[in-house]
Amino acid sequence: MVDAGRRRRSNGAALMVALCAVLLGTACATKPAAKPAAAAAAVDVGAAPSVPAGPLDISKLGAKGDGKTDSTQAIMQAWKNACGATGTQKIVIPEGNYLIGALELSGPCTSNIIIRLDGNLLGTGDLNAYKKNWIEFMRVDNFAVNGHGTIDGQGPLVWGKNECNKNYNCKILPNSLVLDYVTNASIRGVTLKNAKFFHLNLFNCKNVLVEKVNITAPGDSPNTDGIHMGDSENVTIKATNIAVGDDCISIGPGTKHVKIHGSRCGPGHGISVGSLGRYKDEKDVEDIEVTNCTIKGATNGLRIKSYEDSKSQLKATRFVYDQVVMENVSYPIIIDQKYCPNNICSKTGSSKVTVNDIVFKNIVGTSATPEAVTLNCANNLPCQGVQLVNVNLKYTGTHNKTMAVCHNAVGKSSNVVKELACL
Ligand SMILES: *[C@@H]1O[C@H](CO)[C@@H](O)[C@H](O)[C@H]1NC(C)=O
Ligand SMILES: *[C@@H]1O[C@H](CO)[C@@H](O)[C@H](O)[C@H]1NC(C)=O
Ligand SMILES: *[C@@H]1O[C@H](CO)[C@@H](O)[C@H](O)[C@H]1NC(C)=O
Ligand SMILES: *[C@@H]1O[C@H](CO)[C@@H](O)[C@H](O)[C@H]1NC(C)=O
Ligand SMILES: *[C@@H]1O[C@H](CO)[C@@H](O)[C@H](O)[C@H]1NC(C)=O
Ligand SMILES: *[C@@H]1O[C@H](CO)[C@@H](O)[C@H](O)[C@H]1NC(C)=O
Repeated sequence: MVDAGRRRRSNGAALMVALCAVLLGTACATKPAAKPAAAAAAVDVGAAPSVPAGPLDISKLGAKGDGKTDSTQAIMQAWKNACGATGTQKIVIPEGNYLIGALELSGPCTSNIIIRLDGNLLGTGDLNAYKKNWIEFMRVDNFAVNGHGTIDGQGPLVWGKNECNKNYNCKILPNSLVLDYVTNASIRGVTLKNAKFFHLNLFNCKNVLVEKVNITAPGDSPNTDGIHMGDSENVTIKATNIAVGDDCISIGPGTKHVKIHGSRCGPGHGISVGSLGRYKDEKDVEDIEVTNCTIKGATNGLRIKSYEDSKSQLKATRFVYDQVVMENVSYPIIIDQKYCPNNICSKTGSSKVTVNDIVFKNIVGTSATPEAVTLNCANNLPCQGVQLVNVNLKYTGTHNKTMAVCHNAVGKSSNVVKELACL
């Protein structure tokens, strides 16, 4: 996992958002309910559908599903046609393989948009075609992406150019699907495959649902996180399978009310909160719920990590992990308040990230290392209110035994196998 890829946006973007919030506010407030579509210049979520200025089916806009013809312009045109109309508008991407460069799908839009994706989008291997990300929704509210198509980043063409394991300030390759400043979105049914970098990145989003999505990349592909989110609220991930080369799901600073249910992870680096404390002015992470999930063959299971020399003061609080099955996971339960990859931090041992009210309940299965439970908390700021309830994990290897390694963690254990009951 590379935190450089998770930096917050520039003030420029924040300014634009403030501006667009003002515009939206005025527009919404002045717009009467039933106005002729032609006159509808403002956002009107409840409006009747208007006839868009042009087609919404990309095959009628010059796209070719031959895997070779660049179809970027056809999708951009369909987006313009849909975004400028009212009511609910549906963009259609039929079966076929569409070679695509950067798609900047910006709002605000006057319609609600559904993108029906039954074809496969192939991200060009030409890195000059991208500014930053591949498919980026910016300031768009009320949209859905669904279908049985695939968003294929074609990562194998460029993974060799990723130098993030050598150079800390490395150039970030394009993330596949990015939602910035989005409220009310759902992504359903589609497959995300072989991203060049992260598969799905949410920044400053609200009310996002990810359901029945498959995310796949080889276990040894670099920085191919499944879903990352930061500064977001009310994100639900359900019935989703993630097998990648980095974190399956990572939850960054400023995120609250996340529910992950009935999903699978592995291979990958697990379901992670953090890294926290890397940058200044990070906000709390609160109310995270992970239930009925399976983690298999991953390096970590349920992890919370914060930098040893945290740059901001924040809290990680009210997390519930319930009914999680581990299969051969290297570190099934791990809180690390002394995270310091490649020794980039000063080892003061003094954290500013408070970790409290964390419940691990009904966590069963197998551990690939003896250390099934690791609670490595800071000397100056012990983890508080940690509960291990009905935790039964077994090391399956030989020549060692299952153990918990716990420092500075306060809380209680109940109905936990005795070698893991460290609280
Ligand atoms: C999001 O959806 C809710 C519920 O449908 C709606 O009340 C709200 O206005 C929507 N938000 C935006 C920004 O459109
Ligand atoms: C949270 O998001 C879901 C969609 O996943 C939506 O149905 C629900 O209304 C949202 N909750 C709130 C409080 O906005
Ligand atoms: C998603 O992944 C699961 C498990 O790997 C598989 O059974 C299912 O067929 C996949 N679905 C799609 C639409 O690819
Ligand atoms: C739990 O998750 C599995 C998929 O891993 C799903 O088949 C099952 O229906 C879920 N159970 C509940 C109670 O949601
Ligand atoms: C368990 O995981 C370890 C380390 O990732 C791996 O070497 C081993 O083959 C796995 N065992 C099984 C039974 O999958
Ligand atoms: C058993 O595992 C622990 C934790 O990984 C390790 O510190 C210790 O050296 C191991 N003992 C043996 C005998 O391998």
